[in-house]
Amino acid sequence: MRYQPISSQLFIRNRQRLLTMLQPYSLVILHSNDIMPTNADGTMGFRQNSDLFYLTGVDQEETMLVLCPDHPDEKFREVLFLRETSELIEIWEGHKLTKEEAEQTSGIPARQIYWTSQFETVFINMVFEAETIYLNSNEHTRNSSEVESRESRQIRQFRDRYPLHHLKRLAPLMHNLRAIKQPEEVELMREACRITEAGFRRLLNFVKPGVQEYEIEAELLHEFVRQRSRGFAYTPIIASGANACVLHYIANDQPCKDGDVILLDVAAEYANYNADLTRCLPVSGRFTPRQKDVYNAVLRVMNEAKKMLVSGNLWDEYHVEVGKVMESELIGLGLLKKHEVEAQDPAAPLYKKYFMHGTSHFLGLDVHDVGNKYRRFEPGMVFTCEPGIYIREEGLGIRLENNILITESGNIDLMATIPIEADEIEELMTNKQS
Ligand code: GLY
Ligand code: MN
Ligand code: MN
Repeated sequence: MRYQPISSQLFIRNRQRLLTMLQPYSLVILHSNDIMPTNADGTMGFRQNSDLFYLTGVDQEETMLVLCPDHPDEKFREVLFLRETSELIEIWEGHKLTKEEAEQTSGIPARQIYWTSQFETVFINMVFEAETIYLNSNEHTRNSSEVESRESRQIRQFRDRYPLHHLKRLAPLMHNLRAIKQPEEVELMREACRITEAGFRRLLNFVKPGVQEYEIEAELLHEFVRQRSRGFAYTPIIASGANACVLHYIANDQPCKDGDVILLDVAAEYANYNADLTRCLPVSGRFTPRQKDVYNAVLRVMNEAKKMLVSGNLWDEYHVEVGKVMESELIGLGLLKKHEVEAQDPAAPLYKKYFMHGTSHFLGLDVHDVGNKYRRFEPGMVFTCEPGIYIREEGLGIRLENNILITESGNIDLMATIPIEADEIEELMTNKQS
């Protein structure tokens, strides 16, 4: 892996915390993700299943973890299955984990690590010592994939094969655990933010009229990868002028024009953890007065929203309060009228015409990370804070986005050192130094 080794203590503790949430005589099965095909014999890059990574740190395909904490034989309480290598695999794909390396990564003793091809023979010794089987599935509320995952296939096969076991959902337990970041996870997210900052600072010297959006993408990728990132945390949005009003603009194929603002929703991943940054730059190095007014309005909303990202608050209430702040900024910008806002249907507030997405989402091993929106904010949660104003008739879209860690005593902005004040951005761009 290009990232630095992560202490196995993190994964050992993650498994221990999961065990405390299980019913007696349980068994848990986790799978790595499939390698997704493209065309012909082509494949996408491998992306580990976030839950499996969270519990093992193993970043390799065809891996399985089986936990059976009440098994009478200690060696079956925690078992890892690895893809066995061969001379052919070594020649074509390179090195695969040995059992000793997997022990070092995960903290699972090598004698409890088997090859994936041995799964059936080992598993048969475990499954009948358990009553309840926890199987995983993608329960993200925004998941709309029609592709059947390895986990889904397994649920079907398991039902056929062991119809008398009691099946339970693992996902709510994983969401519960992953919502609270451990100190080591926060450090990895800080590193993703640090690499993101390095990429962003590079742009301050690079953006100028005539630069293509894809050239900016290339600059960022160069910086991210040279700093041990796999690359972008998500498909980058590099949207100049009116493109910024297309929320999921990813074509990145237009020239940046003098007088336009460019919206950059771009961030690095590191060790499977993600940053999620948005900044807006004036292509010329200077905002027009109108652009600056809109920019500063978004920044004020962000600063108010950040104050509400504190322990004890509730997701829905937070979003309603941010909406009120946005409403008054939009009135100030002349985009909404006070009397119309006073008469609006509360179920369809007028501000949504200019700010049509949520203010925050959980962030972590997934960019839109898992977590329950009905759970009060708690120390250890990491959220984005990303208000925006999109004015299609003016060809202007401004969004600002930072990553916020909730603590016992307020919160910490993990992106506090990434320039955000309009004046500072102008200064850095026009002095051509960062
Ligand atoms: N970059 C994706 C998002 O901001 O949610
Ligand atoms: Mn973003
Ligand atoms: Mn985001």
